[in-house]
Amino acid sequence: MYWRDDYEAKVSTPKKALAHIKPGRTIFIGGGCATPKYVLENLLKKERSDDNKVLIPFTFIPSPFSDEKVQKNFRVNSFFMDSEVEQGISKGRMDYTPMHMSEVPYMLESGRISVDIAIIHVSAPDMHGYCSFGTSVDITKSAAKAAEVVIAEVNRQMPRTLGDSFIHVSEMDYIIEVDYPVEHDMDPEDVRDDIADAIGRNMSVLISDGSTLQVGIGKIPDAVLKQMHDKKHLGIHTEMFSDGVMELVEAGVITGEKKSIHPNKIITSFVIGSQKLMEFIDNNPMIEFRPSDYTNNPIVIAQNSKMIAINTASCVDLSGQVVADRTGLKDGANPGGQAEFARGASYAKGRSIVVMPSSTSDGRSKIVSSIPQGSGVSMSRRDLHYVVTEYGIAHLRGRTLANRALELISVAHPDHRSQLLDEAVELGYLPEDQSRRPYTGKPYPKEFEFNETFAGTKLFIRPLKPTDEDMLKELFYSFSEKTMQQRFMSTRMIQPRFERMSQVNIDYDSTMGFGMFRKFGEKTEMVAMCDYEYDVKTSNAEVSFAVRDNWQGKGLGTYMLDLLIKVGKSRNIKTFTAEVLSTNVGMLNLFYRTGLDVNAKLEDDVYVVSFNLVKQSD
Ligand SMILES: CC(C)(COP(=O)(O)OP(=O)(O)OC[C@H]1O[C@@H](n2cnc3c(N)ncnc32)[C@H](O)[C@@H]1OP(=O)(O)O)[C@@H](O)C(=O)NCCC(=O)NCCS
Repeated sequence: MYWRDDYEAKVSTPKKALAHIKPGRTIFIGGGCATPKYVLENLLKKERSDDNKVLIPFTFIPSPFSDEKVQKNFRVNSFFMDSEVEQGISKGRMDYTPMHMSEVPYMLESGRISVDIAIIHVSAPDMHGYCSFGTSVDITKSAAKAAEVVIAEVNRQMPRTLGDSFIHVSEMDYIIEVDYPVEHDMDPEDVRDDIADAIGRNMSVLISDGSTLQVGIGKIPDAVLKQMHDKKHLGIHTEMFSDGVMELVEAGVITGEKKSIHPNKIITSFVIGSQKLMEFIDNNPMIEFRPSDYTNNPIVIAQNSKMIAINTASCVDLSGQVVADRTGLKDGANPGGQAEFARGASYAKGRSIVVMPSSTSDGRSKIVSSIPQGSGVSMSRRDLHYVVTEYGIAHLRGRTLANRALELISVAHPDHRSQLLDEAVELGYLPEDQSRRPYTGKPYPKEFEFNETFAGTKLFIRPLKPTDEDMLKELFYSFSEKTMQQRFMSTRMIQPRFERMSQVNIDYDSTMGFGMFRKFGEKTEMVAMCDYEYDVKTSNAEVSFAVRDNWQGKGLGTYMLDLLIKVGKSRNIKTFTAEVLSTNVGMLNLFYRTGLDVNAKLEDDVYVVSFNLVKQSD
């Protein structure tokens, strides 16, 4: 039959189409911007319960399925988790099927999860009789394939999206013609603008030019995208996207030209956003919509070089387990495809990142010692590489439980750090004698982070952190006998751990230290360090310095001394002292070169050097 005749014959009304749904059957209903609103409204008006089951993907809040009356008439089974689904299941009135989105198409098409009727929402047919699934191909295409009966809202305002995104009129049973806009602005989340912006700024250093991103929607992902305007040749392979991605395409930042698969294309399974976005995706060959078993397949994701998975979370525990799935916490997240993208990014030697504010809008810590009872882990701690909050970046990949806990505590809200530390000790993540110093003084002074070039090599200089112990250890054991002798006045072979621990557990006030770091490839090496320790009794701060042998004589010592003087002044320290071997001319020269009034007293073969941080004549 000519498809136009077929189409005309199938045009119906919701009443007629729905009358064919028999009791006890399972109905799939498309979601997001492709929710078939008109037919759904009619379906949910039903007064009588026919014991029908309803399968739903992503819905907007408030969801029509959260109504108690609806829940009495239909048993709803959701593939996505949000606060309303969470409430529904905690009252025993809804079902939730935790599953990787990439698996759902197989489960539906194989009949392992049965679908009898699919109610979908598609674009007007093209000249060959193909309608596009528009904003949502995701699991909807498979549901339509699997169902015995397909009821399709055909909407001339649904964009015609390209890719593996079509259904032919011959595959539909009832056609309901509608004409309404499909755009949707997500409700603004309860996150302060300055917090969202700080998260975006912290995050942007983890993204280099030419990376391929998976990024969801919401205030935090938007804040991340806002910070990308100075990047080049970014690509997108994602489960879903919104207006932020469109803006970066228009700005020439997202080009996809460096993508290792699907170059120059944005790959997605659904979108949500404004009318402008709907116009942007309409007939746009740059955007390929694919079902979830493709977009979310870790093996496909892993083929993207420099793949970066950016997800949000309800909370993260101190070992790095991510919960985006039933927490009871305010401002929940949605697990979506995060585990699959995290895995894919790991295989791609890329990055798996969680971005979130450190606290909920009602002030509870989103970094928790243990995951809340009854919640589901949405991403394993093995798959999480970084957590970014408004306080910085916690590096977790390849780190021990102890270092993970320390890193995460350092990006928690300062009000919660001390308690988290106690809990980490209680859990055995940290030793009983774990220093509290970094959590009792001033906050980590980000203002003392610098990039400088020495002998043609870029070095990163920053205050020391508790997790620097391993790098400090490497530095110590790299020293030659001469350096060892000059720094420690003995040719000691072993440095006890407690000594290093006290060097890295500092309060950034009376104890301060800096490391100079060189990054080559994925490895970071500490090439120099300096510190001071203030003694209240003497009002002096004792300073020490050490530079890796192959980096000596390149200006690092001079730089560190200037830095310590600057910081010391800002902390109202008046005098620095040091004990220097009389043969250590290099160190003595360094002090004299400051131009300050240096006083050196020789005791045995050691100079006790002291000087005021401010020149006396000033
Ligand atoms: C002492 C020590 C900290 C100095 O650090 P450093 O990075 O070597 O110091 P600098 O490079 O800034 O200065 C050292 C010399 O190199 C010179 N220099 C500085 N920048 C230079 C550059 N870019 N190219 C060539 N020479 C340079 C300086 O003028 C200085 O010369 P001088 O000794 O004749 O005055 C370092 O050598 C060290 O770790 N020694 C062993 C441990 C130790 O002695 N610690 C001190 C105990 S408190």
